Amino acid sequence: MQHPELHNETVRRRTFAIISHPDAGKTTLTEKLLLYGGAIRQAGSVKARKAARHATSDWMEIEKQRGISVTSSAMQFDFDGYRINILDTPGHQDFSEDTYRTLVAADSAVMLIDCAKGVEEQTIKLFKVCRMRSIPIFTFVNKLDRAGKDPFELMEELEQVLGIRSCPVNWPIGQHGDDFKGVYHRDTRVVEMYTGGNHGQTQVDVETIAIDDPRLPSAIGQTYYDKLMEDIELLDVAGDPFDLEMILNGKLTPMFFGSASNNFGVEPFLKRFLSYTKFPTARVSDQGEIAPDSDKFTGFIFKIQANMNPAHRDRLAFMRVCSGVFEKGMTVWHSSSGEKIKLAQPQQFMAQEHESVETAYPGDIIGLFDPGIFRLGDTLCTGSPVRYSGIPLFAPEFFSRVSPLDSMKRKQFLKGVTQLSQEGAIQTFKRPNIGREEMIAGVVGILQMDVLEYRLKTEYGVDIVRETLPYRYVRWIAETPKPIDRLRLTSTTVPAVDRAGRDVLLFENEWSIRLALENNEGLVLNETADRAAADAIEQ
Ligand code: G4P
Repeated sequence: MQHPELHNETVRRRTFAIISHPDAGKTTLTEKLLLYGGAIRQAGSVKARKAARHATSDWMEIEKQRGISVTSSAMQFDFDGYRINILDTPGHQDFSEDTYRTLVAADSAVMLIDCAKGVEEQTIKLFKVCRMRSIPIFTFVNKLDRAGKDPFELMEELEQVLGIRSCPVNWPIGQHGDDFKGVYHRDTRVVEMYTGGNHGQTQVDVETIAIDDPRLPSAIGQTYYDKLMEDIELLDVAGDPFDLEMILNGKLTPMFFGSASNNFGVEPFLKRFLSYTKFPTARVSDQGEIAPDSDKFTGFIFKIQANMNPAHRDRLAFMRVCSGVFEKGMTVWHSSSGEKIKLAQPQQFMAQEHESVETAYPGDIIGLFDPGIFRLGDTLCTGSPVRYSGIPLFAPEFFSRVSPLDSMKRKQFLKGVTQLSQEGAIQTFKRPNIGREEMIAGVVGILQMDVLEYRLKTEYGVDIVRETLPYRYVRWIAETPKPIDRLRLTSTTVPAVDRAGRDVLLFENEWSIRLALENNEGLVLNETADRAAADAIEQ
């Protein structure tokens, strides 16, 4: 019989990530969302934590201090009857492959854009991962209280740079900056006035005026009123209509404008976001689709956080619940060992503190104590075994040749590198014809190289030599029209193999990728690869 709460608990869950470039206002927005949810009474604490994290340049110290205890991978709060899980997507120095992997656990994404800067580099990268999964992407254009780009120009930018069309749900009035008047909600036909002032710390009452209220022209000024009427007509006639199905398939992004730090436009955004997005949907396994409200508990591991304190070698594995009810102490089948294991000591992440969790439902994120048995992408389930397709390997962007300083330590070096690549901290590659001794480490975020060096030293007792290589892109060869050594490539492009022995090409620039494709008809290159195949080799 189905768990009595399962259906109701599932339909009220929303699990999403905020994707943005550093400084667009993710911390500020997250804080405001938590504020609405009553998870924090006064905004400021998320920020304080971020500041604490970045206050010192010696991040290794921070990592050591935080160990696995203060890491925030998901924040949970209630709002309007919904239970919301916001996945943390590390941005600044801590940008790494984990940031991409986290997106695999999200059901939708909020894309936060600074109105003055438009679409920036890290947003593009994260957007691509969301696109790959076809999840709904909601755009929030932030910092409207400051001078920024024209909203039509921003719509154009979304289409040109990201290849996604947008449908504004609200529309800014007045010049951004000093003369910002507010937003017009196209669905309710109401103007929400921006009164300025610093409402950063608290929730504020908003002043609204209906679009056909005769007081509106004087409230926002005749010129802005005329411009608004013109803009609305243009959007109605030439813009994309609001099409929920296209939005839910990730083909159209609803667009919102506001100012997170002034608490303006955040609540209307949140309400619409929650009502348009869906609760956790069915996920595809090797046994077919599994509905979230199935009796069968399933979940997968999307992140493994090592404890940087060498005295505690244990790790924390983050699991996304996909179906059924998770209960503390339950026994589940574990895909990579093929054995049954008991899930003790689960933890859940509230706005600030960890709490021990007794029960969790689809969409929830749980931290599991990991004595070293979990692999990224592992499926855990009750009943007959099923496997989710797992977490892919995402293309690293920084590469270094690494070797042990003391060649006598080669064995420990290889052990450390293998374990760190299984954990997902790095990927490894080898260039054939360069010699058996070579090992190339590839990482998504440059700081992971420091992590590699630090961890090999502290956990495996190996000092390494690092030599930065000029490559910035790796592509897995899915199909090739001829043997790889006969491909026509730029002089700086080199073939290599990944740790599963799969052929890849290392490129220095995008131009070389384009040329490789143009000059070798039939060549198919992938930006991601199957992780399970690589792990299987090392079992
Ligand atoms: P991030 O997590 O995406 O990196 O961004 P974060 O929220 O830390 O915001 C980056 C900066 O942008 C902060 O300023 C923040 O106050 C500011 N900001 C966020 N939302 C808005 C907005 O709607 N309008 C304006 N004008 N600014 C905004 P800071 O100077 O770095 O920090 P602080 O001194 O304000 O705390």
